[in-house]
Amino acid sequence: MPKESARTETLTHAKLPRLITSLPGPNARRVVEGDRRHISPSYTRSYPLVARRGLGALVEDVDGNTFLDFTAGIAVVATGHCHPEVVAAVQRQAAELIHMSCTDFYYEGMVELARKLEAISPGGESKKVYFGNSGTEAIEAAIKLARYHTRREKIIAFYGAFHGRTLGSLSLTASKAVQRTGFGSLLSGVFHVPYANPYRCPYGHPPQECCTDCAKFIERELFKKIVDPQEVAAIIAEPIQGEGGYVPGPAEFLRDLQSICRRHGILFITDEVQSGMGRTGKWWAGDHAGLEPDILCVAKGIASGLPLSATIARSSVMDWKPGAHASTFGANPVSVAAALVTLRLVQDQYMENARRMGEYIFGRLSGWRDKFRIVGDVRGKGLMIGVEIVADRETKEPASKLRDAIENLAFAKGLLVLGAGANTIRLAPPLVIDEEQADFAIDTLEACIREAESLA
Ligand SMILES: Cc1ncc(COP(=O)(O)O)c(C=O)c1O
Repeated sequence: MPKESARTETLTHAKLPRLITSLPGPNARRVVEGDRRHISPSYTRSYPLVARRGLGALVEDVDGNTFLDFTAGIAVVATGHCHPEVVAAVQRQAAELIHMSCTDFYYEGMVELARKLEAISPGGESKKVYFGNSGTEAIEAAIKLARYHTRREKIIAFYGAFHGRTLGSLSLTASKAVQRTGFGSLLSGVFHVPYANPYRCPYGHPPQECCTDCAKFIERELFKKIVDPQEVAAIIAEPIQGEGGYVPGPAEFLRDLQSICRRHGILFITDEVQSGMGRTGKWWAGDHAGLEPDILCVAKGIASGLPLSATIARSSVMDWKPGAHASTFGANPVSVAAALVTLRLVQDQYMENARRMGEYIFGRLSGWRDKFRIVGDVRGKGLMIGVEIVADRETKEPASKLRDAIENLAFAKGLLVLGAGANTIRLAPPLVIDEEQADFAIDTLEACIREAESLA
């Protein structure tokens, strides 16, 4: 095993992965065994990566193997692992003040961050921000705020949606049954409707015609037969469904949802927990469709890995009274310091890099549907890219096992990717990657898909 200093050197100067043991290595095996004994079995691990340190788009494991990370810790480390400016800000802040609690006291950085989030939020009206620690907390705040402000109770969400795993957000989630199974009744008054997916149009239309029927269903069917729109507090949508399979909602569909909301006094909530913070080449995935939501939720990439989330609402909507909602740890000063640096780096460099590298990768993936018989669809925006794996391109039968095999083959070659939905491979690298790294990832995936095809 390399010495400590040699290891750090490896990460500092390398751009591509290097494997020095079989996988998992002996140290990784020991940790995985301990994890099996002591840790909740509810987590979903696809392969035995035991991360020890990271820099940029590289992660080193406990055995000294390095991997190219096309997961960014589930789309979190926007500025790459341990960006030196983020690390410096975190260290500075941790030495000054770690916690006081925004529930009862004031923080200067919190106001500054809210001001910056307001400046990059869509729509002209001024905004107010509620800070939590995770994506699910941002959604819980949005649910409560929507109910409080409208004094209505019902919420419309979508098949394929993932909004979190606490009981409120879980009630909106509809991406995998296992996420809801065994937990009894959830929030009442939640209605799930189809999400426009051109590759698998719920109404069977060809891709170019898919998009309007899903929105129309809400007014033509749901509002006529099941729920009076006057009782609906909010429609919540991910502009690009994440855990549901990296499915970008067509712009017309998303705009129709917003129009339905405006017509009926319903709040439009966009969940940008995964798609926000520059990942798609714009601050928000909804920006590609010109959306102006009443409430926007963000987490994951906001603080490059420190826990933080924000529920950003029009000031006239965020009208709840003191005591209505709060969180002890929300807007923790260390997370806020990381977020302030993250916003600056994303604005100055990485959002444009995400746009450019996204274009580059899509250019290279454009022939995949013809090249590989198990690639059904390639889709996404910027560095939020999904490759859907099917048993057969004609029948589009989802091929979950082949997808899982590709993930594992990639790991064995030093590339980290994750699945999304039942049968999609997600590419969500840190926004800092360059062409050489993109090429390595695509070449490696090509080799893995070819291998998987021979298994099919
Ligand atoms: C769109 C979306 N919303 C909410 C969440 C929940 O975030 P967290 O896991 O931080 O609670 C996720 C997590 O994957 C997500 O992708």
